[in-house]
Amino acid sequence: MKLSRRHLSDLVAFAAATARSAGQILKAGFDSSMRVDYKGRIDPVTEYDLRAERHIVGAIAKAYPDHAVLTEEGNNRESPSEFRWVIDPLDGTVNYAHRFPVYCTSIGLEHNGRVVAGAVYDPERDEMFTATLGGGAKLNGQRFRVSTTSRMDRALIATGFAYDVATARRNNLGYFARVARKAQGVRRPGAAALDIVWTACGRFDAFWELKLHPWDVAAASLCVLEAGGKVTRCNGKPWDIFADDCLASNGKLHRPMLATLTGR
Ligand code: IPD
Ligand code: CA
Ligand code: CA
Repeated sequence: MKLSRRHLSDLVAFAAATARSAGQILKAGFDSSMRVDYKGRIDPVTEYDLRAERHIVGAIAKAYPDHAVLTEEGNNRESPSEFRWVIDPLDGTVNYAHRFPVYCTSIGLEHNGRVVAGAVYDPERDEMFTATLGGGAKLNGQRFRVSTTSRMDRALIATGFAYDVATARRNNLGYFARVARKAQGVRRPGAAALDIVWTACGRFDAFWELKLHPWDVAAASLCVLEAGGKVTRCNGKPWDIFADDCLASNGKLHRPMLATLTGR
């Protein structure tokens, strides 16, 4: 089935409304004494990750009962549908559990394996980032573009570290050292989806990270592409949401970033 513009705009409106209501659940719980469990040594999951996910999956089941769902906390639904929702109910859980106000909800939508719509909602700043394939990227309804910086020494760049940073050989610390020596600044805010939409709207000039998951990147990467930016793997090869490393940039900084990461 070919997607009409009208259908796509209904789908992104649903994604945005659902991301907003899930974000409101997170915001309401932010100052509470919440339950925190651990999936690994330092990898937390709060009761609000689970509440927000149940809310989103429930909304999809009601509005689009035949669509497939892929979520971080495992409320997945398999289906032969052409549509699959890719969801991180709370991106930035370590921040959230420490009451550090940098976190978001991310909802992407694939159609026949291609991301066609996405919404990333930041409840702390009440910022809603949306994008549709071919329809541009918006922040609270206003179109935006990536930055125009082409020099590493004028670039503010974001990254993050996977939860196995202490034990894995492939741990991003080498890349971090290289970029830190060339960039104007490097930041590690702690929510990959926000890092990527902040790259899309020009607050950052580039972002890279290893070992990401499809729910971290699905919605936000469409914002970068639709804002005129570029997304590849960290070695410059073609990227999709199942590739576990990602370099997103304003386009102009892509070659300098690739050269820096690969040590050339
Ligand atoms: C994490 C955040 C973090 C990134 C990690 C992610 P979570 O997601 O996006 O910034 O560095 O790689 O796993 O666990 O908070 O949803
Ligand atoms: Ca998460
Ligand atoms: Ca995440």
